Amino acid sequence: MTKAFDLRIAVPEVRRYIRVLAISGSLRARSSNTALLESAARLAHAGMEIAVFTGLGDLPHFNPDLDGEGHEAPLAVASLRELVSAADGLIISSPEYAHGIPGSMKNALDWLVSYPDFAGKPVVVWNASAAGGQRAQASLVEILTTMSARLLVEASLVEPFLRKRLSPGAELTDDDALLAVRSSLAALSASCA
Ligand SMILES: Cc1cc2nc3c(=O)[nH]c(=O)nc-3n(C[C@H](O)[C@H](O)[C@H](O)COP(=O)(O)O)c2cc1C
Repeated sequence: MTKAFDLRIAVPEVRRYIRVLAISGSLRARSSNTALLESAARLAHAGMEIAVFTGLGDLPHFNPDLDGEGHEAPLAVASLRELVSAADGLIISSPEYAHGIPGSMKNALDWLVSYPDFAGKPVVVWNASAAGGQRAQASLVEILTTMSARLLVEASLVEPFLRKRLSPGAELTDDDALLAVRSSLAALSASCA
């Protein structure tokens, strides 16, 4: 289960507490995209909390019939939407599969199309793929733009062959990648503040 944001924690007066929801497009247990997000959660500055979503694989296949008038959204979808509503910004980190984004990632986004709290939300898009992932990245940008997300294109991140730059414990130790993650988080933080 994705941990709920702790609503008791607040940084009084100095700056608003920023809650970020991070969604990995990979269901793999040893996913580099998930490892990237988990490293980011550990790197987040004081006043920023990053919760990594773990329910991607629990979402049913998108079907407008399950979501229309007179229907309550399936529980897993309602949980995702609540987390989106509670977040000030999102990080989406996805691998590239066959020059596109994984079906499970697209499925999650389809459930968020027309969800009012998604539109206008600051989003940064990251990618840890084997060979670059630029096509998946471009596809995500197109989809998220269509969904009226507030995309921070300048804060996007493409980290090819990240798997080789993770420690045995899946920690991000590569200096360049650490710098890029910190700078992307700073841009996201600034746009959420
Ligand atoms: C079915 C499949 C298709 C893939 N297609 C691509 C591709 O088109 N471009 C690419 O850069 N990597 C491709 N890859 C490699 C993935 O990007 C790589 O395995 C990546 O680490 C997966 O992300 P993860 O570690 O978060 O699971 C593919 C992998 C799989 C399993």
